Parts: sequence; C-alpha cells; structure tokens
Amino acid sequence: MRTLTGIQPSGQLHIGNYFGAMRPAIDAQAAGDCFYFIADYHSMTSLTDAGQRRANTRDVALDWLACGLDPKKCVLWRQSDVPGVTELSWILGTLTPMGLLERAHSYKDKVAKGISPNFGLFAYPVLMAADILMFDTHLVPVGRDQKQHVEMTRDIAIKFNQLYGETFIVPEPRIRDDVAAVPGLDGQKMSKSYGNTLEIFGEEKALRKKVMGLVMDSRTPQEPKPDAEKNLAIQLLKLFAPADVAADFENRLRAGGLGYGDLKKALFEHYWNYFAAARARRAELAANPDYVEQVLRDGAQRAHAVGDAVLQRARQACGLA
Ligand code: ADP
Ligand code: TRP
Repeated sequence: MRTLTGIQPSGQLHIGNYFGAMRPAIDAQAAGDCFYFIADYHSMTSLTDAGQRRANTRDVALDWLACGLDPKKCVLWRQSDVPGVTELSWILGTLTPMGLLERAHSYKDKVAKGISPNFGLFAYPVLMAADILMFDTHLVPVGRDQKQHVEMTRDIAIKFNQLYGETFIVPEPRIRDDVAAVPGLDGQKMSKSYGNTLEIFGEEKALRKKVMGLVMDSRTPQEPKPDAEKNLAIQLLKLFAPADVAADFENRLRAGGLGYGDLKKALFEHYWNYFAAARARRAELAANPDYVEQVLRDGAQRAHAVGDAVLQRARQACGLA
C-alpha cells in the first residue's frame, strides 16, 4: 500500500496542514512505502516571486523533517525535480472533461474571491491527478478541502483505464474525521489564503498575541455556557491537550466560572509545548542546509525511478512510445 501526499510551498505551514495532512502522513511511515513531495509547480498558480518560492520550499522541507518525517522510511522530494509529471498531466488533460474542472470547489471559491484565474489554476486538479497516478498511489492523506480533487483523480484514472487498458491504480483519499477541517482564528477553515492561521513554527510573541486575540462572545465568566463544545478555543485545545485535560476545561466552561482569558492562556501553553521538540529539531536542521538539500536530491532520484516506470507504462498504453 503506497501513501502519497503533497503540500504547496505557498506560505508558512499551519496547524491545519499539520493535523489534516502532515500528521496522518507521518503516522503512515510506520507501515512504510510513503511518498511525500513539495508541490512547487502547484504553488506557481498563486505565487509569482521566485525567491519566495525557493525559501518556502526549503521551509516546507524543514517543517516536514522537524515534525518527524524520516527520509530513511519515506521519499521526500521537490515536485519539479521529477518534471515528467507535467507530461503525464498533459496526457491526462486530454481526457479530462471541461465540466469536471468547472465544478471544482477550490477553483470556484478562488474565482469568487476575486482572483483572476490563469490556465494553471483551472488545470490544477489535472496536475494533482498526475502527481498521484504517476507513483502507483493507493492512499492520499489530505484535509477535507482536497477530497474532491482526489475524486477527480479517481474519475480520470478510471477513464484512462477504460480507454487505453488497465494502467493506473485508482487511489482513495484518507481523511481523518476529527481533524478534517481545523478552524482558523476567525472560525472559518484555517488556510494560508485566508490570513487566519496559527503557524506550526511561528515566533512565540506573535503566536501568543494571535491566541489571546481570539474573539469570544460577551458573556461573563460566571455564566454557564451550555454550548461549550462549540467554543473555538475549546476546539483548538482538543488538538493539543490530553483528552482528559481538554474535557476538564470544556466542563468548567459549560458550568460557568472559567474566564475566556484563562482558557486562551491554557490554549497557548498547550499549543506552544506541543511543538517544543519539533522546534528544537527544526533549529538543528536549519543549521545544516546541505543535509536538507541532500535529502531532497536523494528523494528526487528515488521518486524519478518509480515515476518514470509508470510514465512509460502510460505512454505505451496510449500509443506514444
Ligand atoms: P492552505 O489552504 O493553507 O493553502 P494547502 O492547500 O497547501 O493549505 O493544504 C495542504 C494540506 O493541508 C492539504 O492536504 C489540505 O487538505 C490540508 N489542510 C489545509 N488546511 C486545513 C485545515 N484547516 N484543516 C485540515 N486540513 C487542512
Ligand atoms: N492540492 C494540494 C493542496 O493544495 C497539494 C497537492 C498537490 C497534493 N498535489 C497533490 C495533495 C497530490 C495530495 C496529492 O493541498
């Protein structure tokens, strides 16, 4: 069973990325056969600063490694180091219906937000299908927002197999219900593009300020809060604190007597401590950029070997070879 996922280097990674995609991917390492990449081609649909892309790509690699990705157990590479994926994307694009792409939520959301779309943004799910199919992937750990893209990948794989003969494995999304959509500072889905994030590796003072600035309602501390489970700070605390500790805070909030300020302080402490070990590891790795670059180069070589074989299989099947 091969697990594969990608993260765009489009900004600093946040706890939604961590719980939705990175953590399940890191847990999957125990079973082996994991392929993880930094989707730098995809980031071109929204980011046009070359230096920023390079810096973000390095940061995403550091984040993955600091959070526990072990290059001995899995393959980590930069998408653009295996450029054959763009050829596969072309092949798959020729059998992707326009209507399928026009129905993509993430594309429609971005257009609705006033982004003037380029062809790359429209074709984004086809490149993502190529990412997944090129490595004979079975499972794709992602947050809920990416489910539709994995379903499109399935449709495209099935269509190719019908037209040209069995070539691709049809993958499944893996979405953990408890963390499928981590809420952001404003209660909407946390996302780099919404400016509502809590970073995994932010600066202490800035992160404390973000947490203490969470907007709560105007009920007094003494008032019982029967809807305690809907409180944003409680929802976030559940991600970081042991279950009994989080349940205790929720009960105290429900009963009345716990002030929002104290709740937010506790949230910040648990959040900050949760990543303490990873933060130390990240600082060590950052001091050793050659090691990180070597990990990405080795990863690219291994990914290329697997991906190229599948690409040749696809070329053969559709009469290009
Ligand atoms: P962003 O929306 O911040 O740009 P990406 O689109 O780069 O994040 O997502 C990278 C991975 O993190 C994807 O698998 C995505 O589903 C997951 N993810 C992003 N935001 C969240 C969230 N708020 N909750 C759960 N998973 C998320
Ligand atoms: N579209 C994903 C996101 O924005 C990133 C991505 C690109 C990806 N290719 C992928 C995720 C392949 C999983 C598999 O989050």
